[in-house]
Amino acid sequence: MNNLINKKILLVICGGISAYKSLEVIRNLKKKNAQIKTILTKSAKEFVTPLSVTSLSQEKVYDDIFNIENESEMDHISLSRWADLILVVPATANTISKLSNGSSDDLASTVILASDKEIYLAPAMNVRMWEHPSTKSNLKKLKNYGYRIIGPEIGDMACGEFGKGKMTEPNEIIKQVESYFNNLEKNKKFKALVTAGPTREYIDPVRFITNKSSGKQGYEIAKSFRDNGFETTLISGQTNLDSLSGVKFIKVDTALEMFNETINNLPADVAIFSAAVGDYKIKKYENEKIKKKESLNLSLEKNIDILANISKHNSLRPKLTIGFAAETNNLIKNSLKKLEEKNCDWIIANNVSDKSIGFDSDENQISIFYKDKKRETLKKMSKSLVAVEIVNRVIEKLN
Ligand code: CTP
Repeated sequence: MNNLINKKILLVICGGISAYKSLEVIRNLKKKNAQIKTILTKSAKEFVTPLSVTSLSQEKVYDDIFNIENESEMDHISLSRWADLILVVPATANTISKLSNGSSDDLASTVILASDKEIYLAPAMNVRMWEHPSTKSNLKKLKNYGYRIIGPEIGDMACGEFGKGKMTEPNEIIKQVESYFNNLEKNKKFKALVTAGPTREYIDPVRFITNKSSGKQGYEIAKSFRDNGFETTLISGQTNLDSLSGVKFIKVDTALEMFNETINNLPADVAIFSAAVGDYKIKKYENEKIKKKESLNLSLEKNIDILANISKHNSLRPKLTIGFAAETNNLIKNSLKKLEEKNCDWIIANNVSDKSIGFDSDENQISIFYKDKKRETLKKMSKSLVAVEIVNRVIEKLN
C-alpha cells in the first residue's frame, strides 16, 4: 500500500558528494504522489542545481532565508509547519554539527530548528569524519533530541576510502519514510516492553557480579518499536548507552529490580526479554565492604527468572512473549528447550562464542525459533537492522 499520497515531505539537501542521490529520492517520492518542497543549502548548490531539483519535484526550491519573494510567499516558520516530515539528504558533518548546536544561520538550519515534526537525517561523510568524536557527540545529542538517523552504511566512498559513512541508498531511505507513516497509524494502539543489558548481583556495597552484555541489541529493539509507533518501555540494566527519547526508560541494577519493574509496566501486547539476567545471586549479601583475606568463598543461589515468571503468569503474560538465547554451543537444541521451558512464543538465538557478533559488537546474527516449530536464520547484519527485522515480524504477527 502506498501511504505517501499527499504526505508533505520537506527535503533538505546539503552539500556533499552524495547530494546527487537526493534527486533519486525526489523522483521516488514523486512517483508515490508525495508533496515535496525542497531546501538547498549554499554548498548543496555546488553539487546539484536548483533547476534539476525544481524539474523533478515540480515545486519551487527554497534556498535563501533573506529572499523577500520566498518569505512573503512562505516564510521559514510556515515552511516547517507545512511539513509532515523533514528529510535531510545527505546530512553532512557540518549540518549535523550546526543542528546539534541549535545554529540557525541559513534557511535549512532555521527551518529545522523551528520544527516540531519528525526529522530524518541520512548522514554521509568520509569515514574519519564519521568516526571523529565531535561528530559522534553531535549525533548523540541529536538522537537525544529525537532526530531519526538513517545509516550511514559501510562501503567504498567517493574519496577512495572504505568504511562507515556512505549514505544509505535512496530506496532504503524511502522505505524508512514509508514505514514511518504506515506504522505510526497502525501501531499506536500497541504497547511494547523490552528488557536489556546486564544485571548486577551485589556481593557487598561496592562489589557485584555482572556479565559482558552491552545492551545494544535490546536498545535497538526498543528504538525500532518506538519508530514504528508503539508505546514503548525499556527496562535496562547498567549500560553505557543513552536513554532513548520517546521511550519510557527505566534503569535498574539487579534481576529482582528488573523483575519488579517488568511487573509494574505490564500489561503489554509484546514483550522482548533481551536482558542478560544474572542466573545467580549472592546467597548472603554483606552490608559492609568485605575486607581482604587469604581466600573468599562466595555462595550463590539461583536468581529469579523474569521471562519464565512472566510467560507463565495468568493475567500479565503478553500476547507475544519473546525470549533471547545466548548460546556458545548446541544452539538449536538449547533454543528449542528454552522455547518450551520458558513458555515463549519465539526464542531469538545467537551464538555468543563468535566474537564478531553478540555482546559488545555492533553486529548480530540471529535465528528465530517459533512456537509452531518453524524456524528461520537471518544473515549477519547490524544490530539496528536485526531490530528492524524482529519488530517487522512482531508487527506482522500482532496485526
Ligand atoms: N532470562 C530472564 N531471567 C533470568 C535468566 C534469563 O528473564 N534470570 C531471560 C533472558 O532475558 C533471555 C532468556 O531468559 O530472554 C534466556 O536467557 P539465557 O541466559 O540464555 O538462558 P538461561 O535461562 O539463563 O539458561 P542458560 O544460562 O543455562 O543458557
